[in-house]
Amino acid sequence: MILDCDPGHDDAVALVVASRFADLVGVTTVAGNAPLTHTTRNARIVLDLVGSDVPLHSGAQRPLVAPPRHAQNVHGENGLAGAMLPEPSRPADSQDAVGFLIDMCRSTEGLWLVPIGPLTNIALALRAAPDIADRIAGISLMGGGTFGNRTPAAEFNIWADPEAAAIVFAYGGKLVMSGLDVCHQLQATPERVDSMRRIPGTLGPLYADLFAYFLPTIEKFMPDLRGAPMFDVCAVLSVTHPALFEGSDEHVVVETAGEHTAGMTLIDIRPRLGRPDPNCRVQWKIDHEASFALIVEALTAFS
Ligand code: BDR
Ligand code: CA
Repeated sequence: MILDCDPGHDDAVALVVASRFADLVGVTTVAGNAPLTHTTRNARIVLDLVGSDVPLHSGAQRPLVAPPRHAQNVHGENGLAGAMLPEPSRPADSQDAVGFLIDMCRSTEGLWLVPIGPLTNIALALRAAPDIADRIAGISLMGGGTFGNRTPAAEFNIWADPEAAAIVFAYGGKLVMSGLDVCHQLQATPERVDSMRRIPGTLGPLYADLFAYFLPTIEKFMPDLRGAPMFDVCAVLSVTHPALFEGSDEHVVVETAGEHTAGMTLIDIRPRLGRPDPNCRVQWKIDHEASFALIVEALTAFS
């Protein structure tokens, strides 16, 4: 697996879970929740925290067409607010995430690409090297849904770079989408944040600090939720623990031009004959208790 991320609180959980349960062969970073210097620094820190020396390459500083827009209102100025973070010990291996993605997909058949931020790096790689579409096992992404968070129609990762998302949804290979519908079921509730704090060692309490910041911030925007969705980990678990999910195969396209709907994932769930062929596995339900237990297991392993 290569994790393409923009940490971000929930990306930081996804990194730990991928380090524990996946054969993680690299991490790439993209501008998203915060500008690229922050997201890359945060990824460097988390890889240190789990003692990982996998290659780390930073990538796109901005979306393909859309202006750079971030989510520092929810993740804080540095993208990972709420905890005292150590200085990272390692630099990024390069600033050429796209070249790294292409080289890895060409040299190793059957990789999963797991993008959990805006899809800029993945789209650039698919555009520059369309042959990699046939070499990978698939793309499991966090993004989209039947409703939005950044706008009524659009979820942040898709909204931030709709043109890139449109390229990825049309790439033609196996695609798994963990959208808001499923991600909102896996929440860091106050009780779960407490249970992270009780994990012996340093990592659990540090993540509890992160989520003690993230939870009230998220609640300001989504007062209907009791906890902070741990969005990005769903895209990792879809690969490592697919039995946790219920999904269906659907035809999904990304709206790039709509005045009010840019960044929307349009999922054709009409119960009709004559629908276009499915291009995407849409995850609808997750066993959130079992998933949270795996998160605790991963945090415990690296604590
Ligand atoms: C997505 O946007 C980001 O803020 C999160 O890290 C997640 O990838 C949720 O809409
Ligand atoms: Ca993210």
